[in-house]
Amino acid sequence: MSILALDQGTTSSRAILFGDDMAPGRSHQLEFPQHFPRSGWVEHDPADIWRTTLESAGAALAGESAAAIGITNQRETVVVWDEDGRPIHNAIVWQDRRTAGLCRTLRAEGLEEEITARTGLIIDPYFSATKLAWLLEHVDGAREQAEAGKLRFGTVDSWLIWNLTEGRVHATDATNACRTMLYDIHKGAWDEDICARLGIPLSMLPDVRDSDGDFGETTLLGGTIPLRGVAGDQQAATLGQACFAPGMLKSTYGTGCFALLNTGGEAVTSEHRLLTTIAYRLAGQTTYALEGSIFIAGAVVQWLRDGLKIIDAAPDAQPLAETADEGHRLTLVPAFTGLGAPHWAPEARGAIFGLTRNSGPAEFARAALESVGFQTADLMSAMKADWPQMGETVLRVDGGMTASDWTMQFLSDILGAPVDRPQVQETTALGAAWLAGQAIGAWPGPEGFSDAWQLDRRFEPQMEEGARSKRLTEWRDAVARTIGG
Ligand code: G3P
Repeated sequence: MSILALDQGTTSSRAILFGDDMAPGRSHQLEFPQHFPRSGWVEHDPADIWRTTLESAGAALAGESAAAIGITNQRETVVVWDEDGRPIHNAIVWQDRRTAGLCRTLRAEGLEEEITARTGLIIDPYFSATKLAWLLEHVDGAREQAEAGKLRFGTVDSWLIWNLTEGRVHATDATNACRTMLYDIHKGAWDEDICARLGIPLSMLPDVRDSDGDFGETTLLGGTIPLRGVAGDQQAATLGQACFAPGMLKSTYGTGCFALLNTGGEAVTSEHRLLTTIAYRLAGQTTYALEGSIFIAGAVVQWLRDGLKIIDAAPDAQPLAETADEGHRLTLVPAFTGLGAPHWAPEARGAIFGLTRNSGPAEFARAALESVGFQTADLMSAMKADWPQMGETVLRVDGGMTASDWTMQFLSDILGAPVDRPQVQETTALGAAWLAGQAIGAWPGPEGFSDAWQLDRRFEPQMEEGARSKRLTEWRDAVARTIGG
């Protein structure tokens, strides 16, 4: 019995058909346009999101049927549509910074502590709440329509569920709800006070279900297929990496990097500006995670290619970095769009330190790849400080950048910890497929699925402790100067 995973990401929509053996089979991927109406604004056309999802699903199925569908998606991105399913505006994407001013106002009102205590998040434009408030404020007639119960809000999963079920189901799962900054992660309910402060009627919010809950069925892909798994993409990758036990940790290297540490039934409050988030909610049981979000990871390689033009293709970065002069270190702080966790410095911009007349493409490439390791090391230290019982841990990695052995070796060196790369790299889609597959009883539960997880390669730290701490000190000094300056 095949399971279809729909992975709706920031730049493309993908569909992957998984077989009985839980291995990825036929897949299809479609990119769609990004809209940047103003500096710092990022939008998607919701129709593009839906069209590319439906088309890629059809292509992956290629006439076959699936026993169930699992959905995973870019998180935090906001769509608002009317009763006829017509979006009232483009989707406002998670990367969009237009609501920085409203976030400053909320902080000035002294709301940060309470909002963090309830939602696990810090006040930042990254999350859905202020984007939704912006739409209600700026789209003609939106507030009146919302108050009359005529508009629906959803993250991308809800938008897809609504369309797949032809308007029968308006729902989301707990992992997506917890990224809105409107959801009380302890009570497991929308927070009426935060909604009231932002003028968001409760009636427009989706029903929040378990990640392996029942999200209706679709008849748009041949036959009737149940929608039985939904999770935000980083949480789905946590599942796909089988990080079920407290203390297990994964990091996904796409455009950005998102590290999630499973903390079990305990919602750990961060003292180091990490996020407290829901890792998954299965059969009513919530498992929490600490999350560190870095905005620039793979994007730094795109910068080498498209900005500096010193490589032709992403895989060229590693061989170039390997030719760098051993005695000539550059430190790159890739704060191209500010810095995320644990610094949260939206106004910071990138900087490079240590330039000499001998600094060339190879040294830039090495500094770029190393910056990903350094940023991950900052997240790991924050996690250890927040949750000392984390102890010695192994980092499970996935995403495009993990194909580079050199980058993974440096990551292990600078963390001083083992780094495990799995055989199946499609961990995000696999996590969504697992939710749906186990929900219908076709795939094993957490234990059996953990047993099936297979290692491709383990990277063990080889750097001497003295060298490691020297490099980390240089990095932290560079970050302090970047944020300060
Ligand atoms: O929080 C944003 C994250 O969910 C986006 O992931 O893979 O679509 O860039 P991705």
